[in-house]
Amino acid sequence: MRNITIITGASSGIGAEFAKQISKNTESSELWLIARSKDKLEDVKNEIENEKAQNISEIKIIPMNLSGKEGVNLFKTFLATEKISGGFEINMLVNNAGFGTYGEFAETPLDKELSMIDLNCTALTGLCGAVIPFMKKGSVIINVSSLAAFLPLGNFAVYAATKSYVLSFSVALAAELKNKGIKVCTLCPGSVSTDFANIASNGARKEVLNGKNPVAIVAHCLNKAKKGKRIILWSLKWKFTAFMSRFIGRYLCARYTFKYNKRPYLKTQQGTSEY
Ligand SMILES: NC(=O)c1ccc[n+]([C@@H]2O[C@H](COP(=O)([O-])OP(=O)(O)OC[C@H]3O[C@@H](n4cnc5c(N)ncnc54)[C@H](OP(=O)(O)O)[C@@H]3O)[C@@H](O)[C@H]2O)c1
Repeated sequence: MRNITIITGASSGIGAEFAKQISKNTESSELWLIARSKDKLEDVKNEIENEKAQNISEIKIIPMNLSGKEGVNLFKTFLATEKISGGFEINMLVNNAGFGTYGEFAETPLDKELSMIDLNCTALTGLCGAVIPFMKKGSVIINVSSLAAFLPLGNFAVYAATKSYVLSFSVALAAELKNKGIKVCTLCPGSVSTDFANIASNGARKEVLNGKNPVAIVAHCLNKAKKGKRIILWSLKWKFTAFMSRFIGRYLCARYTFKYNKRPYLKTQQGTSEY
């Protein structure tokens, strides 16, 4: 029986790091890497193959736009086609594809805000639904949320709301799947050095401020996921922030961040990027 690990958003940043680390220590025979950029997925695949990944007999790159119901249907069709060519089980799904938008809600392109919900919420939920029938006792779902999930944030309103959704949904799913022996873990990173800020700001901010290296964060997540930890926070500072969020007023936090944590967004004549 083929055993599969699926990683979404595997073409860069945290997702690419998941792909590299999982390839070195997995019981899966196949790794499926999903994102829109075929070239970047090829690069990640080549890097993994050069490091001689153990156990893996095939790394499949799947260039696919996962956004919205359309993306979920594309994914389901892909699974159905794979099933025809041979049965398989899914050991692990890392639901990592996602993006943010910086700036005041009324000042950022509405299309982009809605696409964020389509990817961060609809696609993530749809992929969970699609893979569960292929999972067995011991399988793991890792949903990538954010430290932004714990409170509403001004200048990051829709993003923080999408990540709150991911956290809430994932914890409930963990409760529902416990009896089936399927673990559901939510990774809640703070700032990580990836393309995230460049995309969220439409090019106005090239780097994530105070971004941490994804290597340690992903290693910590995989270690904790094995043990069935439901909410995974890497640093002491992030754990403290998440804990303190229980005592801070929601409106107060949103108002404070709106006033004092400005997030730049580059307005262009074309309006919105491909997101
Ligand atoms: N970096 C941070 O500070 C931070 C903090 C907390 C949480 N996160 C979360 O971590 C996750 C990964 O982000 P990152 O920081 O690694 O940013 P990133 O480097 O921009 O990676 C985002 C990934 O998502 C993929 N993606 C975007 N739209 C897609 C679509 N429609 N269909 C399929 N794949 C798509 C991108 O690939 P293509 O462009 O090739 O499609 C890319 O592989 C996101 O969910 C993000 O919200 C990041």
